[in-house]
Amino acid sequence: MDPDSQPERLYAGEFRHSIDNKNRITIPSRWRRGRPEEFILLPEATHQFLIVMSPTEFGKTSSAAQANQTVSARDRRIFLRQLHSRAQHAGADRQGRLVLSKRPLISMSQVQLVYKSMFCQNVISAVWCEPPAWLALNARAADDEADSTEEPVYHRPVLQPEVLRLLKPKSGSLIVDATCGGGGHTEALLESGADVLALDQDPDAVQHITERLAHFGRRVIVRQANFRHAGCVLDELGIRTVGGILLDLGVSSRQLENAARGFSFVRNGPLDMRMDPTTSLTAATIVNQYSEEQLTQLFRELGEEPAARRIASLIVKMRKISPFRETLPLARAIEKLIGRHGRQHPATQVFQALRMEVNDELGALEQGLRVLVARLAAGARIAVISFHSLEDRIVKNCFRDHGREWLDKPEWPAPQRNPDYDLNLVTPKPMEPSDDEQRANPRSRSAKLRVAEKIK
Ligand SMILES: C[S@@+](CC[C@H](N)C(=O)[O-])C[C@H]1O[C@@H](n2cnc3c(N)ncnc32)[C@H](O)[C@@H]1O
Repeated sequence: MDPDSQPERLYAGEFRHSIDNKNRITIPSRWRRGRPEEFILLPEATHQFLIVMSPTEFGKTSSAAQANQTVSARDRRIFLRQLHSRAQHAGADRQGRLVLSKRPLISMSQVQLVYKSMFCQNVISAVWCEPPAWLALNARAADDEADSTEEPVYHRPVLQPEVLRLLKPKSGSLIVDATCGGGGHTEALLESGADVLALDQDPDAVQHITERLAHFGRRVIVRQANFRHAGCVLDELGIRTVGGILLDLGVSSRQLENAARGFSFVRNGPLDMRMDPTTSLTAATIVNQYSEEQLTQLFRELGEEPAARRIASLIVKMRKISPFRETLPLARAIEKLIGRHGRQHPATQVFQALRMEVNDELGALEQGLRVLVARLAAGARIAVISFHSLEDRIVKNCFRDHGREWLDKPEWPAPQRNPDYDLNLVTPKPMEPSDDEQRANPRSRSAKLRVAEKIK
């Protein structure tokens, strides 16, 4: 048997142990193999046990499923969607205890740790839960669980009620959802009575929402496009102005969780990070070809990473020995260099910077805002949700530049009319998600929503 197809053995033996009140499972040292620091936990469909894998194994499982030609493309997609939506990241502490990030199991439950090879996949070991198995502690956790077993969630939309309230979609008007992702906002807009032109540069998102929203018929048009080219799409469709615009920037959970897309520092995959796979710049090109100075600047500016220079210098040293091709070796090298402080993975900022550079996210936003604001009908609104301070600054400056009727400079004899004046600010200060939303959807924490209205 090919040794590569053998699951990596993290533990040997079986024992019973309870999960302590900090959600940790102690693994007797004589049964530990190596010192894994991260694990992926997968609740088995019946919730009778948790499968524990190393991130490498998880990446292999995901890649193997993706390459499996014996099942239909649709079944492959469903399997992968379920795999990624169920997977949960867990860490290990210095004592080698498995630390669960949320509370999937009641704290008193006895668990048994077993090394098993199951389903002919790279399953490492299983944690058996005695009944009552996989008990959620509160209603929200129970809902999350229901979501992940029945219909995997592509992406949980952020600030949805606020977007609807402030965008004020009118029945029969056409709204451009320029970043449709999993279609959460698109669906809410359609349900409110508006028609939607849904754009995304990611073909996977486009395919997903074409299927998901097919029942809305001709009320929704879906196109794969970067929103910086929204003008061309509108021209092709013969549309001059629109009744509203939404941009929900950044990545979707699905993109982050799909190892094969290369956005994840938890699941191994190719260092790719392209939202539109037809573009040429990948994260590997940046990591292996940018100079130390360019990398430092990138990590500092887009990642706001305090250790930018040290990380850039390490990368340049390591790539001389062997170029970086996959996400985990890069994430691990960064972690080794700067250590773990707090809950956030130490490679988070660097991965964010790489992703923003690969997809020219700030350039697309500047251009996209210009193009889209020009297409707003009088009285129609544009709403932008950003997740990064530089993105928010671009949105704020754009709305300010379009929102001032008069311009003045000390050297001018009198104020002059602003030729770009065509917006009124609806949100002088950005709106942020409520505490409840932040608790329920931690990804929403850094979200900021700004809205402006085209003058009549
Ligand atoms: C945060 S998700 C949007 C989630 C979506 N609103 C929902 O409810 O599921 C961001 C999406 O924007 C897409 N995207 C990012 N930049 C883009 C651009 N310049 N043009 C088009 N799509 C873009 C990404 O591919 C991703 O699917």
